[in-house]
Amino acid sequence: MWRAPGRVNLIGEHTDYNDGFALPFAIGAGVCVAAAVREDGILALTSRQQGEDVVAVPVESLVPGKPGGWAAYPAGMAWALLSAGHPIGGASLAIDADLSAGAGLSSSAALECAAGLALAGLYQLEVPRAELAALGRRAENDFVGAPTGLMDQLAVLLCQAGHGLLLDCRTGAGTAVPLDTAAAGLGLLVIDTRARHELTGGEYGNRRHACEDAARAMGVQSLREVTDASVLSQLSDPVLIRRARHVITENRRVLDAAELLRAGHLDRIGPLLTASHSSLRDDFEVSWPEADAAVEAALGAGALGARMTGGGFGGSVIALVPAAATADVTAAVWATFARRGWRRPDIAPAEPSPGACRLS
Ligand code: GLA
Repeated sequence: MWRAPGRVNLIGEHTDYNDGFALPFAIGAGVCVAAAVREDGILALTSRQQGEDVVAVPVESLVPGKPGGWAAYPAGMAWALLSAGHPIGGASLAIDADLSAGAGLSSSAALECAAGLALAGLYQLEVPRAELAALGRRAENDFVGAPTGLMDQLAVLLCQAGHGLLLDCRTGAGTAVPLDTAAAGLGLLVIDTRARHELTGGEYGNRRHACEDAARAMGVQSLREVTDASVLSQLSDPVLIRRARHVITENRRVLDAAELLRAGHLDRIGPLLTASHSSLRDDFEVSWPEADAAVEAALGAGALGARMTGGGFGGSVIALVPAAATADVTAAVWATFARRGWRRPDIAPAEPSPGACRLS
């Protein structure tokens, strides 16, 4: 049995595919895979959350797009391992999860990485975690068809308990930074707004293209190379200016947050989180009404900072909250949602947790 956690991205959104910085941490909820070798070359997949029907495909005949739906994530991982020359054969994978899909907590990377570790484990292959993360991204980009970056897979595979992971997405290097909320008398609440997102939809890809267009127009390889926002005056399209400004300022916020965490000042990162949200809402335009309302309600009730987390267009908000204000923040968010006639969000504290592992 293998298990991979979901992640919360503390800060650094839509920076990964721009070769920039991000600072995710793994959470307690995740995806489990019980796995066994099969001699008949079939990849047989079943999921407790998906009705327990079995999706069965010969491993050698996996091609992008088939199977589709939830099974594309583990099947895509098998396909990516094989395409990279790792000799895997048939396997039965039974999947169970306590992480909701579409909540912006990286259920897809958790599923890919749990399946990838299981397949590598069954066939006794030594696949370094950085390589497995890249194969997970390949599965998602080329098999599932979602043009995502590498942050989620790296977070799921490399995070450590009690720490965030400062990722340099240009090199793929991750550095643990202390993130001990309890010791600071704080909590990181995850507010699942219940609005659901789909990263295979066009908006995520549009943002990605806009960033590439902006980089090209400024004559740089990636937006990571731009650190001075005054360079934006080289752009004429106001939309590209906003998109690029988000990425440039967000990279700075990630580095500032990491520095504060290293210096033991978790209590001071709140304004960076809130500024990140404003930038995602106004410049990158990937927030959604429930997220904006949750952020505003949390801040009004004593949160030190709050922001949407993940790709956007639905999913979750995080709020950094003094332990004593947790009940007030929760009540304020619930009241706001009730007033608007929205479903009551799930609200739970997230603990920075260990990355993926073999259970037995
Ligand atoms: C999704 C993608 C990531 C990243 C975030 C936005 O989670 O899977 O690669 O781009 O959105 O930061």
